[in-house]
Parts: sequence; C-alpha cells; structure tokens
Amino acid sequence: MHLLYIGAGFVGSCSAAVSADSGHQALVFDIDQVKIQKLSSKNREQIESCLYEDGLADLLIRHQDRIDFTTDYRKVEECLDTCDAVFLCLPTPEIGETGESNLTYYTTALEQLSEALTKRNSGTQSKRLVIINKSTVPIDTVDLTETILKKHAVQNVGVVSNPEFLVEGKAIQGSLKPDRIVVGAWNEDDFLVMRRIYQRFYDSPNVEYIEVNPKEAAAGKLLANYYLFNKLAVCYDVIGRTCETFPEVRFEHIRRILTSDNRIGSWGFYNSLYAGGSCFIKDARSLSHQLQTKGQEAVLVNETYLANKRQLELFLSRAEKEAKFDWKGKTIALLGTAFKRDTNDIRNSPSIDIVRFLQEKQVEAIRIYDPSAREMFEALFPANETIQYVGHEMEAIVTADCVVVATDWPQFRGVADMILGEKSRPLVMDGRRMLQHRYDDLVAAGCAVIAVGSPLLKH
Ligand SMILES: NC(=O)c1ccc[n+]([C@@H]2O[C@H](COP(=O)([O-])OP(=O)(O)OC[C@H]3O[C@@H](n4cnc5c(N)ncnc54)[C@H](O)[C@@H]3O)[C@@H](O)[C@H]2O)c1
Repeated sequence: MHLLYIGAGFVGSCSAAVSADSGHQALVFDIDQVKIQKLSSKNREQIESCLYEDGLADLLIRHQDRIDFTTDYRKVEECLDTCDAVFLCLPTPEIGETGESNLTYYTTALEQLSEALTKRNSGTQSKRLVIINKSTVPIDTVDLTETILKKHAVQNVGVVSNPEFLVEGKAIQGSLKPDRIVVGAWNEDDFLVMRRIYQRFYDSPNVEYIEVNPKEAAAGKLLANYYLFNKLAVCYDVIGRTCETFPEVRFEHIRRILTSDNRIGSWGFYNSLYAGGSCFIKDARSLSHQLQTKGQEAVLVNETYLANKRQLELFLSRAEKEAKFDWKGKTIALLGTAFKRDTNDIRNSPSIDIVRFLQEKQVEAIRIYDPSAREMFEALFPANETIQYVGHEMEAIVTADCVVVATDWPQFRGVADMILGEKSRPLVMDGRRMLQHRYDDLVAAGCAVIAVGSPLLKH
C-alpha cells in the first residue's frame, strides 16, 4: 500500500519504518529540515543523533527503497494521487498549564493536507483514502477533523483514529510485536483499509486487534496513559513514602510481595524521582481538562498529576532537610538527562527541573553526563561557567560534593564502585534506586544516601 506520514517524530518515524517492514511504500513529510536530513541519511550515527530508538536505524537502512523522507510538499501532493492512507503524527502539547491540548500543529497540517487533497487526481478526488490520526488528542477531535475536511470540500475520504501505544526506548520492538492495535472508524470501508495496512498483525493470534469508534479509540488512549501514570504515582507517593517512613521496610521486598499478586501486576513498580516524557503528564492534564469542561471534577486525575510533581520536589528538598546539605558553592554530578533509559528524549525530564533548582541554590558547578541525551540537553542548557558536560560518569563524580542519579541507564549501577574508589565521600542522591545493592557499602564508607523509597541512610 502507499502510505503518507505527516510528522517524522518518534511516532511518525517508528510507525513508517514498521510499515516499510510490512512491505508498504511510505513517504514521510516533516517541516524540520535537520530531522529529515538526518533520518534520510542512511547513516546510523546520524539517524540515532536525531532519534535514538533501538532498531530504528536498522529498519530505515534495510528498507531504504520503501521509505522516503521529505520536506518538499510537492512530493506530498504527487503522492496523494495514489495514496491509500495518510497518518497524522503531530505534536499535541499542553497550552501553558491549562490542560487544554494545543491542536494548532494538527489543524495546520490538516488544513494544508485538505487543500492538497482537493487537487488530487487532477481535481477529481477519485481515489478514496483514509486520514488516520495517530496523535494523542481530545476525545472529540474526530469531529474537528471532519469539519475541516468538509470546509475544504474534500471528497472520498474516511476519518480514522488509530492511537499510538509505543513505549519510547522500545518503540520498534513494541511495534513489531504489539500487544494491541486499536482502530477507531465509523464505517466498514475504513476498517477494511486499516486491516490491509495492519494485515500481519490482524492475522496474528498474538495481537489484540480492537475495532471501535474513533471517540472510543481516542478515549482508550488517554485513559490507558492515565492508568499507567496513576500506577507510577501510587508507587511513588504511597508505596515509596511508606518505605521512606519505616526504616525496616525495604522497597525491593515490598515490591516482591505486591507484584507476586497477578491482580496487581508488575509494571510501574520501580521507584523514581519523577515520571517524565512527552505523554503521561500532558495526557492526564488533557483528560482532566476535558472532564472539567464537561462539568466533572476529575479529582483523582488531578491528584495523580500533583503526586508526581510532589515527588521531585520532595526528593530535592530532602538534601537540606535530612542531610543538612547546603547546596551553595558545591559541585554536583548529575547523572542522566534523558527522561528514562534507552532514549535521547528529554521532554519533561526531571533533570531539567534539577538543573534549574541547582542554579537557584547557587551551586558552584554542575557536571552533567548522559550516554545519549547530551546534545538535546545542551541545546536547552548550554555549557557555561557553572554547567559542564563530561564524557564519562567518572569525570562527573571526581571530587563532587553530591552525586545525583536521575536516569535509570543500566550502566549507572556501577557508579557506587566509582564513588567508593574515590577519596571524597559525596552525598549520594539516588532518584532511581540504581545503587540499592550498594547502599550499605556506601554508608559504611561514610557517604550519606538519600534514595527514593528509603529514609536517609548514614552512619
Ligand atoms: N513519543 C511517544 O512515546 C508517543 C507515544 C504515543 C503517542 N504519542 C503521541 O503522538 C503524537 C506525536 O508524538 P511524537 O513523540 O512523535 O512527537 P514529536 O515531537 O517527536 O514529532 C512530531 C513531529 O511533527 C512535526 N511537525 C509539526 N508540525 C508539522 C506540520 N505542519 N507538518 C509536518 N510535520 C510537522 C515536528 O517537526 C516533529 O518532527 C503526540 O500527540 C504524542 O502525544 C507519542
């Protein structure tokens, strides 16, 4: 099939790569020239410097004959003559702190597409195609989509909602072996097109292929994200807090007790300083905004958001309160700037707030290390007298007064040994419990340890 993707971000690029792997022909359009240049470079390093997703570069290089990237809209217009489906993979961020979704990226792209659609097949619009929204959007967005298409007198199109459930860091593996595919459409013709696009998954006994209407599909995505976000908030704000309060109650032991109950499940039982990323926060806020607009109070949804915010504030405040640590004039090692391991995405990364906090506290130096997200972070916080970027954990740690572990990169498990190999005894702030197997050793050597899910640990 001939597929067009508008938006070459995590969702558009990964989804197009998987479509090419399924044997389809994909054209991917984006307005970001640098991104398109890197993604179409056929060079692993270039691709990964733009989108670090395990397996993405492999697919883009392997299927280079079936996938094209462009910033030239004339190519989009040409493609529409034979195109079977257009995927909209556009950002839907929050407007300020209102909870409301900013749909201007979506509507701008759709207005431009609508104009081009009316010109296809020499203006006859004879080829039927479907317009598929993959972005996470408010539940009623399908109505807005239909209104825009109607305004432009676009003919012969179906409107489908096909929310993306990819997990950053595992986007390609997850998309090649999805748990479920959700397709929301109003009529059988559109369901048929979608089944052809996803034939390999539709035919697979291991994939839950769910057909619903477009509003249910959009609501399902928002609610699924809220549910996961809430699980994290419970882990931080209830389970973690309990373990921080009772010294003999160890987080890892509680996790074993709880997760061995199938009804509870195991996902989300890793204590952290913050749930970041591009989705959970904005999607919960959007859900809350939509519910409140319709007269609901959304108390629990709001509380989940607040619990996450509280988690980072509490974690940082513990240094002064519990360890009597005075930040002013100190050297801090900040390990990890990606919002989680296996990605270079820094959207809503806790490290952003941590750097701002450290700047406010007038620390002397912040030495930052991340194995893949440095470039992104440096664009936000350029190196200066205070902020220094280093190429190895060790360079950050040497003579630091405080070591903050902010991302769960597996290699950070070795950081305890690096600290113990040095003379200085920094305050260790473990925002991911990455060093939990060595807390006793660190304390015995004279370090104070503040970890999410533990009370202050010191001699
Ligand atoms: N990243 C995730 O893990 C994930 C998972 C599921 C769903 N989603 C949702 O999918 C949507 C996209 O997310 P993403 O992470 O891929 O975003 P992203 O920011 O990585 O990518 C969006 C892309 O759209 C491009 N763009 C903006 N305006 C455009 C226009 N007019 N024409 C063409 N391209 C344009 C941007 O340049 C950017 O490259 C969001 O709604 C998000 O909530 C994201």
